[in-house]
Formats: sequence, structure tokens, C-alpha cells
Amino acid sequence: MEESLLTNIPGTRDLLPDDVAVWQSVEEHARRIFAQYGFQEIRTPILEASDLFARSIGGDTDIVGKEMYTFADQSGKSISLRPEATASVVRAYVQHSMHRASAPAKLYYIGPMFRHEKKQKGRWRQFYQIGAEVLGSDHPAIEAEVIEMLLRFFAALGVQSRLLINSVGCANCRPPYVSTLRQVLHQRASSLCEDCRRRTEVNPLRVLDCKVESCQPQINSLPMITQHLCANCENHFERFRNHLTEAGIPFEVVARLVRGLDYYVRTAFEIVSGDLGAQNALAGGGRYDGLSEVLGGPPVHGFGFALGQDRLVMVLDEQWGKNAVWRPELFVISMGEAAFKRSLAIVRLLRAQGIACYFEFEGGSIKSQMRLANKIRAHHVLLIGENELLRERYQIKCMQDSKQWEVTLSELSSYLLGEQSRARKEAGCVPAANESVPSQNS
Ligand code: HAM
Repeated sequence: MEESLLTNIPGTRDLLPDDVAVWQSVEEHARRIFAQYGFQEIRTPILEASDLFARSIGGDTDIVGKEMYTFADQSGKSISLRPEATASVVRAYVQHSMHRASAPAKLYYIGPMFRHEKKQKGRWRQFYQIGAEVLGSDHPAIEAEVIEMLLRFFAALGVQSRLLINSVGCANCRPPYVSTLRQVLHQRASSLCEDCRRRTEVNPLRVLDCKVESCQPQINSLPMITQHLCANCENHFERFRNHLTEAGIPFEVVARLVRGLDYYVRTAFEIVSGDLGAQNALAGGGRYDGLSEVLGGPPVHGFGFALGQDRLVMVLDEQWGKNAVWRPELFVISMGEAAFKRSLAIVRLLRAQGIACYFEFEGGSIKSQMRLANKIRAHHVLLIGENELLRERYQIKCMQDSKQWEVTLSELSSYLLGEQSRARKEAGCVPAANESVPSQNS
């Protein structure tokens, strides 16, 4: 059967005006808090050479093996919709010689990513990430600082989360560990699921991430990378944990934590939420020294994260309800022909002062306009008739308690500006006072 042209592609979705208010608020928080830590925005293309992702994320990963939207363009070149942005940021950093600068680059991005994943709650095929990358520093303190920034961002939005950390070793200690792991997995092959048996051959670390119930006893007793770290990785991991502790950030070491992308070395982490169900990762990240060299660039140290904006909004929708939806501060009702023009001028003036106004051009009776003001949840209504224009005093009505009183234009704007900032604060749309690093609910 032919699919309807009036339906979006599965796994993508339209974000309607009522949804977008929360998305904007999240982005405003990110921009403000990331700027406090010295991060600047970078915007890279959504289309990149397929090999950029295949080489950096790894050809044997699910993302590259099964999930990329890849096609040949008109010249026959294989290009892909980006499944993540770290590879693009590293490419741009090297391409524009940012590695020649003396200080590390602190970059953040906000935008859509594409993975053809199995449909599930919390998983979309076009989804949105907010990510941050520090390029040019291998200091464990920068890792703790970036995580502090991320937790401060979640705390500002009132989101409860848990930080899980691990070290996945480096090019020295990981290969011998992986071959030990493979040997043990071969011995236990008969008790493992088919996916684990396949992963034993292509990418044994991914077995640690298996969720199949019957595999769990076998996996829990496997040798873990944390017992096989080289002295340098051990030392780095210890300093990282100390920096977290000094910053007052609680964490859990999860020896089974391996990430779904191959470029990580040493520090890996995830932030999970209790409010999300099976797809509970709100954010993930880690260190990726060596990624630039894999792409043919100079040695570059890198550390960063990406958070799933769709999943974060799911949590916030639960918490905020409809509070964050756009609501006009003032619904202006003009009465009569002469008042119409003057009302438009007043609306223009109030908007220029930063007050969100709604004006219904089609007019209609006062009763029907009041009904509309109610429906769109306007905070106040202003009535402008010829009498009011002559006296330069207008009737204002508060829709919450139905109180009505008279104001001049200047009284009106100072009252509404005060109300507007108070109401927004209550709805969590502007920074709340509680932006300290959270004490997490573990
Ligand atoms: P990732 O773990 O693949 O890491 O994705 C990060 C976050 O994006 C996840 O924790 C999740 O919240 C969200 N996410 C991933 N896939 C989906 C999906 N299909 N639907 C909805 N949300 C999703 C990366 O992408 C790395 N580039 C992170 C990074 C940055 N590492 C270092 N720097």
C-alpha cells in the first residue's frame, strides 16, 4: 500500500509550537551555562563523507554497521547524514587549524543527528543532541569540569540524574585485555546469546553492554578492564575521580560501562535518569585522544559529551506540564473602528518594551474575544474603547483572579514587565536560583 504523503517518516516527528517552548528553554539554559565555562558554539554540516564516521566511530559498531543514512550523491561520492557530531567537530578543528592556537578549544553544538534505530520509547531516527567538546587538553581536571558544567545544566532545569564513570584503557592496555576477554568468552559461548557470540568475534567489549537476562550471570563474572589498566591509565582515572570528589560531584564506578562508539580511551561516562525507562541514558561521553590521527590529522587530545535533547524534554514535559508553553502576557481587545488603529499602535509599543502581546485582527464580540483569551491562557486582558482612548486610561483584567482596574499606559507596562519576569521564573523558563552542582539522588 502506498504510504500517505501527509504523514512524516517513521522515527522523525514534527515539533509543534506548544512543544517548542520547552526546547527553546533547554537551549537557552545550555547556551548561558556553557558560556560561563568558556564554550563557544560551532555549527558543522549535517552531511559529511561516510568514511569520516566509519573510521572514527568504528566499522564494527551498530551505528556504522546498521544505522547510518548513507547514499551516493550526484557525483557518486558516499555521504551520510551525521549520526553524531564529535567526528565532525574534530574534522573542523583540524581543517581550520584550530590546533595551532595555544589554548584548548572549547566548543559546543546543538542540532539534529540521524540513526536508523529500532523504534522504541526514547529513541528516534532523527533526534537532537546538545554536545560539548574540549580539544587540546589531556588533563583529568578538564574532564571533571566539563561534567560539572553538564550537571549544573541539569540541576538548573531541576532534573535529577546519576553519574556513572569508567576507564576503558588505552592503546597499550586495551588490546591485551580484549584478547583475554575474547578467550574467556569463547569458553562460555554456549551460555551466551547469539548477539554476544557475534560480538565476541567483532567487538568483545560490546558484550559487556548486553541486556539479555540469561547472559547476565556470565557477564558479571567476566574480567573487567579496570583490573587491567596500565599504570598511566590507572593514574589518570584516579586523578579524575579525585577531581570529581573535590568538586563535590558524586559518582558511581561501573566497570561494565563501555560506550557504543570505538573512539574512546581512558575516561568514559554516562548520565542516567530514573524517569526514562529502558533508554535511560540522558548523556554520554568521554575522552577520544587519537581520533584526529585515525582521520589522518595531528595528535589531538579530546574530551566531551552529548546529551539527548529529546530524552531531556521527555523528562521536563513530565515535570513542567504545560507551564512552559507560550502564554501572552496581554490579550488586547479593541472595541470599535476608531480604537482598532490605536490598539495596534499600543500593541507595537508594548512589544517593543518586551511584553508578549496577542491581538486578534478578526475582532468579534467582547464575549468571544474573552473566550479566546481564556483558551490561549493569556495572563491579562486589556480593553480599549473610545472612552478609554479619550481618557488615556484603560481597563486591565487579571485572568487568574478576575480583578479589573484602570491603568495609564506607563503604569501598564511597568506592572506587566514585573509580572512577566515573576511568572517566567515560576515556570522555570529563566534561570532559577538553584544552580549549584546538584547533590544527586543515587
Ligand atoms: P551517544 O551515547 O551515542 O554519544 O549519544 C549521546 C546521547 O544522545 C545519548 O545518551 C542519548 O541521550 C542520545 N541519543 C542517542 N541516540 C538516540 C536516539 N536514537 N534517539 C534519541 N536520543 C538518542 C555520542 O553521540 C557521542 N558523540 C558523545 C560524545 C561527545 N562523546 C564525546 N564527545
